[in-house]
Amino acid sequence: MSPISGRSIIVTGGASGIGETAARLFAENDALVTIADISTEAGEALAEELSGKGCEVQFVTTDVADEAQVAAMVDAASVGSFVCIPLAAEYGEHGIRVNAIGPSTARTPMYLKLNPEYEKTVAATPALRRGSEPVKQAQAAMWLLSDAASFVTGVTVPVDGGCLLY
Ligand SMILES: NC(=O)c1ccc[n+]([C@@H]2O[C@H](COP(=O)([O-])OP(=O)(O)OC[C@H]3O[C@@H](n4cnc5c(N)ncnc54)[C@H](O)[C@@H]3O)[C@@H](O)[C@H]2O)c1
Repeated sequence: MSPISGRSIIVTGGASGIGETAARLFAENDALVTIADISTEAGEALAEELSGKGCEVQFVTTDVADEAQVAAMVDAASVGSFVCIPLAAEYGEHGIRVNAIGPSTARTPMYLKLNPEYEKTVAATPALRRGSEPVKQAQAAMWLLSDAASFVTGVTVPVDGGCLLY
């Protein structure tokens, strides 16, 4: 059984890039996925595609900068665990873990736009000296969401090929 089977997971920014890849991975691993994004057209198309494959996916148009929209979206998702900035100390006593991933050089629309010479840019980074498909960030997030990481909280896991090592 998948380590995130049956879990309700919200993917903010889930209509493109790392978020889209994470939404796909989580849905294919039997989670109940809520995609929250300002890009309604792309988000609805993704939710429709994944639902058509038998996955449990809904899309809620959400601007994460708008508190009221976020509250409405969380209600719709009935969420139990989410990945965000370190609020772990405050929420730990309620059994809520708060972790983040620190991505870099993931081959996404945003990163390609910022780095038109992608291969050249990533080859010049330290350590692994290459980029990644966004599934590498999504896999790290999936581990953080699973019981395998049940004693991990308050951390940011770099998933960047070591490009910030120096
Ligand atoms: N790709 C990388 O290597 C890399 C490196 C460093 C940081 N990041 C960070 O990771 C995150 C995802 O990056 P990506 O490369 O997948 O980008 P992307 O542009 O492919 O996807 C970002 C998604 O976020 C959505 N979005 C933007 N503003 C929003 C808002 N206010 N509310 C809800 N949704 C919103 C967009 O509509 C889009 O679907 C970004 O925060 C980015 O800064 C990525």
